[in-house]
Parts: sequence; structure tokens; C-alpha cells
Amino acid sequence: MAVREIRLEGDPILKKISREVTNIDERTLQILDDMVETMYAADGLGLAAVQVGILRRLVVIDIGQGPIKMINPKITKREGMTISREGCLSVPDVNGMVRRPKTVSVEYTDIEGKTVTIENAQGLLKKALCHELDHLDGIVYTDVAEVVFDMDDIEKYEELYDVKPVCRGTNSYDYETELHEVN
Ligand code: NI
Repeated sequence: MAVREIRLEGDPILKKISREVTNIDERTLQILDDMVETMYAADGLGLAAVQVGILRRLVVIDIGQGPIKMINPKITKREGMTISREGCLSVPDVNGMVRRPKTVSVEYTDIEGKTVTIENAQGLLKKALCHELDHLDGIVYTDVAEVVFDMDDIEKYEELYDVKPVCRGTNSYDYETELHEVN
């Protein structure tokens, strides 16, 4: 495994649409392993292949329950709406407030080629799924955030949006400020 370089905002590749993976070969598995290692090295909770410069529909997520490796993931159901804080390894030192569904269901292919469904994900997993799957379509959260702010200003925005951290992590992404229902 190898830690790969994370592409940062301003790199045009982050705006590109990733291609479907048609063949789960050694290279695909290697990329997924490298993505997991890169995510851990950067202390993140999720990573899309485009963030390491590879335009394939591959996502890894670990919200503290072990790594999930996803091939061609897609959202099959969205319900409700919340607003919460997000950050991104490709956009250091800032966070934003982003509207997302309250729950999503996602279907993906696992490394053995089996179809897996995550039903009605919520909270941190939901947020990571929405955020990482957006990357596959060239969308960085700063494109859709209501507001983007310096990390030092977080308390001001928590007050403005009436969101309270459930747990405060050490990095820009590892923390859950929802769940504030929005009509
Ligand atoms: Ni991101």
C-alpha cells in the first residue's frame, strides 16, 4: 500500500466526473487499498479516487467502524433535510454548513463484485456518503455549502445555525454537528 498525494482545491481534476468501474482488477483493488491508507494518514473519514487524481467511481469511508470500500456507489433514496458542518481533505483549514438529506440509501459493488445496499444511513455515515459521492460528479462541498468559514470561526456559525457538536474531533471532518431539521 502507498499513501498518495491528495489533490487540493484549485486542481481542475476535482471538477471532473469520474468514470464507472467496469472491471474489478488488481489495479482497482490496489487503488482502494492506497485510498484507505491515504485517508488514514490524513486523519480523514472518507476519500474519493478523484482526490488522489484517479477519475474512477471509487470511494472509501471509515467513520470508526472499519473501512468500507465502494465501487460505483450511487444514492438510491433520499429523505428529509438537515444542515450540518462539513470539511474536506482537499480543502484544508475551512469548514462549511451544507444541506443534506436526513437519510440516504446507497447501493455499491464491493471488492468481491457483490452488490451491497446501505439502507437509510443517517448522521455521520450519511454525511460522508453524500460528500464523497458528490466528489464522483465533480462537486466539492464548497460548491454547495450555504457558507464556508475559517475553522477558527466555528463557534460563531454553530450559534448562527443552532447546531451543537455531538463530539468534537481533532480534524476538520471528524465531527457531527447536525441534526437540525430544516423545512
Ligand atoms: Ni471531500
